[in-house]
Amino acid sequence: MPVTLGASPDHGFDQPLGLLSDCHRRIERFLNALWRVTSDRHGGELQDEERHTLRRALEYFRNAAPRHTEDEEASLFPRLRAIDSPQVKALMRDVERLEADHRAAEAQHDRVHELVDGWLGRGQLGERHLQELVVLLAALRDMYREHIAQEDERVFPLAARLLSQSQLEQIGQEMAMRRGVETRRLDEESR
Ligand SMILES: [Fe+2]
Ligand SMILES: [Fe+2]
Repeated sequence: MPVTLGASPDHGFDQPLGLLSDCHRRIERFLNALWRVTSDRHGGELQDEERHTLRRALEYFRNAAPRHTEDEEASLFPRLRAIDSPQVKALMRDVERLEADHRAAEAQHDRVHELVDGWLGRGQLGERHLQELVVLLAALRDMYREHIAQEDERVFPLAARLLSQSQLEQIGQEMAMRRGVETRRLDEESR
């Protein structure tokens, strides 16, 4: 059954790779929202709707996005690493870069959070901080473009081919548990 983690219906936890791609669409959407308000307002006074948009985006990157990273680093990548195949060995070099991207993005998101939080709190963002925010958002946009394409187009399709149905079910269950969602139906099926 589809579940909703954001604004639109998603794949279910029984389709974990589809659900991971759904998370990518949300990363893109919330990053675009930060861009749009920043380029419309240039650090100036915000309208209520813009404040709401910024708060939602900060909340997403603070609370939900880290679970996506954990889905990949704790549930998906280790199961791929354990597969003895030349395709996976070649892919693992790229996976190391994906994990390095995650670390870099965490630090950049922390700073974006501080800057946007300051903007929301004071109602203005000074020129120096605005420039810093623009540079950070551009870096995140460029990084995610490559990173998400790599995962959606290479990592997830290979995982779909190489992981067993029961491994995919375990990944889905772990993703559900990270979000405090019960998957009784999956529990019963996989027992
Ligand atoms: Fe990733
Ligand atoms: Fe991802």
